[in-house]
Amino acid sequence: MVRIRSIEVSPSLVNCSCAWASDLSQLQELYHCQYTGAVITRTATLAGFAEDSSHTVAFLKDSLSSLNSYGYSPHSLATYLSWIRTLLEQDPSSSKPFIISISDSSPVEIAAMLDSIQVLRKSQPGWQSRVAVEFNPSCPNIKGHPPPSYHFSGVSPFLDVFAKAFWEDESLTIGLKLPPYVASTQFTEVIDGIAAYTRLDPSGQPRNPFAYFTCTNTLGNSLVFSELAVDGGAGVNQFAVPPGLGGLAGEAIHSLSLGNVYSFARLLAESDDPAMREIVIIGAGGVTTPEAVERMHRAGAKAVGCATLLGKEGVAAFQRLAGRLAEE
Ligand SMILES: Cc1cc2nc3c(=O)[nH]c(=O)nc-3n(C[C@H](O)[C@H](O)[C@H](O)COP(=O)(O)O)c2cc1C
Repeated sequence: MVRIRSIEVSPSLVNCSCAWASDLSQLQELYHCQYTGAVITRTATLAGFAEDSSHTVAFLKDSLSSLNSYGYSPHSLATYLSWIRTLLEQDPSSSKPFIISISDSSPVEIAAMLDSIQVLRKSQPGWQSRVAVEFNPSCPNIKGHPPPSYHFSGVSPFLDVFAKAFWEDESLTIGLKLPPYVASTQFTEVIDGIAAYTRLDPSGQPRNPFAYFTCTNTLGNSLVFSELAVDGGAGVNQFAVPPGLGGLAGEAIHSLSLGNVYSFARLLAESDDPAMREIVIIGAGGVTTPEAVERMHRAGAKAVGCATLLGKEGVAAFQRLAGRLAEE
């Protein structure tokens, strides 16, 4: 179990935001799975993303890995809000939270999205601890819009909007989905940038609006030829996904994701700002076995997530990660 600001994630295993957490039936199955401690939606935008046949996923042959060319969800935020309302109302005795992953092209849309998420959170007693938000500035597949999270100056106008929402309501749990970084200066840039948002709350306690980081998203600009993909992948040309380039995930990025979790965990723990030391890490990237879950914890994650394994095995993935498949 891990408490992340106002939400409780128990067990500390989650699905990652992905194409298999996209529609109502998928969210319902994830919600009712006893091995997930929270359900994270696919990334929603205000109006929905124009998905076409170039947006797809392929699995690799030689390891449990994936390459995907998806953008954001075709379903709008309003659709996710209505589905989550339905699921919460159906099961009032549950305490499992939903984390709504969001992104959009400008801070104005993000502000409107946060307003409507707050309407849902405030519409029933107790729902403030049932609905959280994760900002995804790290999708590598949006044409003409490389992930802003690779440069803090690109992401800070968005973070300002999240911080404002937090200071208006300190019960709002806000997470950040980070890309895989490869240089030590990239980690310190994020840490210094986030630390700049710490303030004293009315009781004099230092507080930072950002409650957790999910590390990592997929590794962009990766290329897999069809012959290395299961069934050739999308198979429309020599590439596993139609655009050629896509986001690599699964076992192929496990070491890089562990390195990101470890780097952020150390920098957060060493911070002289107590509010930074409270930021939790959800570890993701190549988590396909109970041993990989354990490695994420050893690297510093307080909760662990997966996407590729969910795509491969459905919600049985979580039973496998919990180490229970053999027993039941
Ligand atoms: C098919 C697919 C779709 C994804 N879509 C999203 C998304 O909408 N938003 C997001 O933040 N991450 C998305 N991701 C990234 C995952 O959340 C996760 O960070 C990454 O895949 C690493 O985990 P894994 O190795 O278990 O797949 C997606 C990954 C996959 C494989």
